[in-house]
Amino acid sequence: MAVPRGMFIALEGIDGSGTSTQTRLLAARLRAQGLRVLETCEPSRGPIGRMIRERLSTRSAPIEPAALALLFAADRLEHVAREIEPALADGVIVISDRYVLSSLVYQSLECDGPWVAEINRHARWPDLCVLVSLPFQAAVSRVAARQGEKERFDAPELQRRLAAGYQRALEAQRPGPIAAVDGSLSVEAVTDAIASLCADAGLTPR
Ligand code: TMP
Ligand code: MG
Repeated sequence: MAVPRGMFIALEGIDGSGTSTQTRLLAARLRAQGLRVLETCEPSRGPIGRMIRERLSTRSAPIEPAALALLFAADRLEHVAREIEPALADGVIVISDRYVLSSLVYQSLECDGPWVAEINRHARWPDLCVLVSLPFQAAVSRVAARQGEKERFDAPELQRRLAAGYQRALEAQRPGPIAAVDGSLSVEAVTDAIASLCADAGLTPR
């Protein structure tokens, strides 16, 4: 008997919107329902992803924006081929903390938008793309409160423009369907909202 295909869920949002926390909580919730789940992220944990992560640190030399865009696209192709597609083919639910919409929104700030779309042409749209939407001021305060290294995109003015970029994509529903949840709700309420979108997408009973 053919194994049913899994479902590919991507969580998106500006830095501090809660995509990492929600990836973890959604995965735990779906596992508690007996589903098999792969929790993953972009930049990926593979060699290109690790190289990107190093260059995102404000401690390393600034990287040429077009080169960074190509690295993100290359990391994504590897990630899809080596981790995401095999898991889906095995019937596993894949939840990725960021995916192609991150490139379309972030890299289009510094590079030509249609070119960014072109280099990401082979990254197929997820089955469910969820934008965790949060006013940028709230997200910036959360990031400022975090311990650890500062990253390239953390500046408030950039985050304002990124929030606007995500909002435009949501309104246009481009380049694919995008659902949104209110990221200013309690952590648990945000997970509830995402889980309910998953149910609407046919994943699990409510
Ligand atoms: P993270 O903070 O969510 O771990 O992601 C690292 C940073 O990389 C974050 O500022 C978003 C940025 N990013 C891009 O600019 N383009 C991309 O394609 C991805 C996946 C992340
Ligand atoms: Mg970040």
